[in-house]
Amino acid sequence: MKRLRRTADLQAQVADWRRAGLRVGLVPTMGNLHEGHLALVDHLAPRCDRLVTSIFVNPLQFGPGEDYESYPRTFAEDCSKLEARGVDAVFAPPVEDMYRGGTRQATRVEVGALGERLCGASRPGHFTGVATVVVKLFNLVQPDVAVFGRKDYQQLRVIEQVVSDLNLPVEVLGMPTVREADGLAMSSRNGYLTQAERHQAPALQRTLQGMVKRLRAGDTDFRRLEARGRAMLEEQGFRPDYLEICRADDLTPAGPGDHRLVLAGAAWLGRARLIDNIELELN
Ligand code: PAJ
Repeated sequence: MKRLRRTADLQAQVADWRRAGLRVGLVPTMGNLHEGHLALVDHLAPRCDRLVTSIFVNPLQFGPGEDYESYPRTFAEDCSKLEARGVDAVFAPPVEDMYRGGTRQATRVEVGALGERLCGASRPGHFTGVATVVVKLFNLVQPDVAVFGRKDYQQLRVIEQVVSDLNLPVEVLGMPTVREADGLAMSSRNGYLTQAERHQAPALQRTLQGMVKRLRAGDTDFRRLEARGRAMLEEQGFRPDYLEICRADDLTPAGPGDHRLVLAGAAWLGRARLIDNIELELN
């Protein structure tokens, strides 16, 4: 497995592959890899000739006071995991090489209303940072296909919108959320939880499941369901950020009559901000 640290090295490698007519796949990550990330790798490996995983903790998508500095960086372990899964190249550039004009680079990818709701409301600029780095990664790696997790549903929708709006020649795949045995969505940020908090953490998924049950039973008071869900999270020691029943396409608040829904939640538990969602088709 190649370890490419410079954008120029990555570009030279990709140029070779493209000349040979090979199909290139990309799994973008921020590292500290777990089975959720590796499921993306496993899905893509048989669907391309050369597989690149990027590991880059992107400063542009972190707000002031967020965990950019403390975000876990475990490059050596990540590389052994990727090598074992048959990845051809890891691309892990230093910040100065990705952002040559500094992280205040003037050119950004703005994603509009889709990026201003849910996580975007409490993390202003976050999705501009995500969209900007993903477009940079797409331009560098020139993948035929790239895969993202449905755990970050809003992120996936943002990237689908960017690819469509900017006519990027990349096929985007979304993969189901990989969970721990007790239902907690795997996340690098789960490492911030104390043992007691780790025990409480699956309550976020259970709360969403409870809401799904009510919706399936025909409850149509969506706003009251959301309020009850938030109260339940608070009772279990969370500090809810949002808990919303949304339309799956544009993530605006859903109402009776909407059929393709996403129940999305974000809540603080101690130092960790956890997010999760359930996609639901009502008939
Ligand atoms: P990161 O949080 O490292 O996640 C990398 C990819 O793994 C994302 O597509 C994310 O949705 C997916 N993923 C994380 N946990 C998952 C789980 N439990 N099940 C399935 N997929 C999971 O998301 C980012 O990095 C960044 O924002 C990035 C897209 C790399 C841009 O910087």
